[in-house]
Amino acid sequence: MQGDVMERLQKVIASSGYCSRRKAEELILKGKVLVNGQVVRELGIKISGNDEVVIDNNVLVKENKEYILLYKPRGVVTTTSDDKKRKTVIDLVQSSSRVYPVGRLDYDTTGVLLLTNDGEITNLLTHPKNEIDKVYIAKIKGIISKEDINKLRKGVVINGFKTAKARVKLKSLDKKTLTSIVELVIHEGKNHQVKKMFEAIGYEVIKLKRERVCFLDLNGLQPGEYRHLSVKEVHKLYNLLVNGK
Ligand code: URA
Repeated sequence: MQGDVMERLQKVIASSGYCSRRKAEELILKGKVLVNGQVVRELGIKISGNDEVVIDNNVLVKENKEYILLYKPRGVVTTTSDDKKRKTVIDLVQSSSRVYPVGRLDYDTTGVLLLTNDGEITNLLTHPKNEIDKVYIAKIKGIISKEDINKLRKGVVINGFKTAKARVKLKSLDKKTLTSIVELVIHEGKNHQVKKMFEAIGYEVIKLKRERVCFLDLNGLQPGEYRHLSVKEVHKLYNLLVNGK
């Protein structure tokens, strides 16, 4: 943000990559945020790029935004650091800012993962009301029946919660190895959601890949490789998220 453009305080904090917009709102309400030396406890106030923001004694640095699309390989954790010293998705990318993953893929799941320092886009991408398509390809043990595919479409109960309607397609069946390949398009992002959805109807997922998030896919990338989004892609993403599909 530059010059006299006025933006809401929580948006400025989230856009800097410091934290999500919701977290910024919490910090403001707790009286942890100072603008030009004054504590601000209201959520509505607008500030300009010339105003100094201090949070918990840290001066807010307005970082350049970065958007990285990673083809997450197996055997890597989706966190910024790991107690068990396992490789993290952050170890796979070179970045001059503090990027972090948007959402989570399991250790053994591969596929599309966005890394950014833009708290605003993180918030928009992870908010359930925005219903972002996430396309998964699951290889499961067993020959899945039409009835079971329909159960997934209608929603199944996992951890006492009924999943929303999903688009589900059978891609192939292998009668020799007794495995099936199924494509699922979901909007939600509960922990281990796809594995739990199959578990709920009696199947084990043996391989899971996320092929697409919104319009971002793996074209041109190999596992472990990444690329930066173009300015055009970032605009397209914001437009879709803010103005709807
Ligand atoms: N669902 C899962 O079960 N695992 C993932 O990594 C992503 C979605």
